[in-house]
Amino acid sequence: MDLPPPDPTAFTYRPLGTLADRLAACADAVGGKRALAAASGISEAQLYRYMDGDAAPPIDRLNDIAAAAQVDNGWLLTGRGAWQMAVDRPMPTFRPDLLVALHDGLHDLLVEYDRPFPPKVKARAVTYLYEAFRHIEATTGEIISPDKFQLLKTLGFLAEMRTEAEVDVLRQALHALEYKGLTPHYAPHQQLLTLWCNLLVRGMRGYYNSYAGQLYFERMGQKLSADAIVELHGLVTETLKVVGKTNLDWLDLGCGNGRHLAHLHKHMPNLRVRGLELSDHAVALCQDLGKANKLPADCVVQGDMRQLPFPDAQFDVVFARLSLHSLPYLPGTGLGVEAVMEEIQRVLRPGGMLVLVVPEGEYRKYIVLDECFTTHSLTSITSAHDFQNIRILESNAQHGHFGTNAQNIPATIRRGQLASLTGLFRKPH
Ligand SMILES: C[S@@+](CC[C@H](N)C(=O)[O-])C[C@H]1O[C@@H](n2cnc3c(N)ncnc32)[C@H](O)[C@@H]1O
Repeated sequence: MDLPPPDPTAFTYRPLGTLADRLAACADAVGGKRALAAASGISEAQLYRYMDGDAAPPIDRLNDIAAAAQVDNGWLLTGRGAWQMAVDRPMPTFRPDLLVALHDGLHDLLVEYDRPFPPKVKARAVTYLYEAFRHIEATTGEIISPDKFQLLKTLGFLAEMRTEAEVDVLRQALHALEYKGLTPHYAPHQQLLTLWCNLLVRGMRGYYNSYAGQLYFERMGQKLSADAIVELHGLVTETLKVVGKTNLDWLDLGCGNGRHLAHLHKHMPNLRVRGLELSDHAVALCQDLGKANKLPADCVVQGDMRQLPFPDAQFDVVFARLSLHSLPYLPGTGLGVEAVMEEIQRVLRPGGMLVLVVPEGEYRKYIVLDECFTTHSLTSITSAHDFQNIRILESNAQHGHFGTNAQNIPATIRRGQLASLTGLFRKPH
């Protein structure tokens, strides 16, 4: 499949006559007027006054709007110059030792696990991996030495890319979004971004089905740590209170090996639990729990959270713990995270609740995609999809990425504490 090469110049200038036109362009850029109001911290009514020319925005309000829409504030004020913010992130400098380490590490793994990777695709994969690692180093300030598990995980993901062009889509998306000053909402690159999202989901399914994924679920185990149990019980208590019902239909999106569902099924008989999981391997683990009477039979179905296989208004609570970040947040495109939000809105009953646990950060890690979120971005995403913010909590989880007490996890996999945000949102009645 041949993709048109990205054309960075196509997105540089957007001369628009009146301030109202430019404000409308900003609203388009973030997915609508309501989203722009939420993202810029301006009331909708006030924003409409600015857009209708009934009031003139003061300079600090214009700055807020420009920052929310990621456009240049000079352009917003005058209509002259580049409409996008200057790209202030240069391409990272070349680090040959990292390229060699990745090449050798990947080669050893391919030999060890005998993966059918055509040499040309392998070469592309090394380049992609190198660029993705280098990008993480540049945005997080960390120097990375890829460990075996990380490479194995990436291999499971990249093995799903069937042609060179598909690996190239991953690279093009990284370049277009990070270095070319591209803002996704105006992109004729919509085709590229659509393909990218589909490949990410396919790759993610590959990873969680692969040997690396099996290792991951095995190490995660079925037991929740004491901290995780307290956290989960607190969330259930709060949802019962906010939804105002004694029995809840509870959906776990990206439920993994079913450990949260099994815990709830055992300890919270007033919850009717269902799960949706991308990985066939994880679904099989949940089915094993069903056979052992630890979960209702067939309560977990295989699927992609962008297209939920459930009728409308089916659930009181949608819970997504560390799964949403596998998809990118591309405001205004309707892709990735936005597609998931549409679906969550659809399957939730009026007055129902969305509980999200996401990694915290101001960057996106492009390997096996890790989208990070801030309080600001979570608020923008959810309010653009008509959710009311109940509260967003920051946590530096003591139980690490696995939410388990397992001491036998090697440090390379445990990898420090996970800074996360837990957001509680409500669908209005
Ligand atoms: C980091 S694990 C977390 C598992 C579980 N929520 C937990 O906390 O134990 C992420 C899970 O999300 C699933 N996932 C990723 N992308 C998905 C998608 N598009 N649709 C459904 N599940 C997805 C993965 O297969 C994986 O099991």
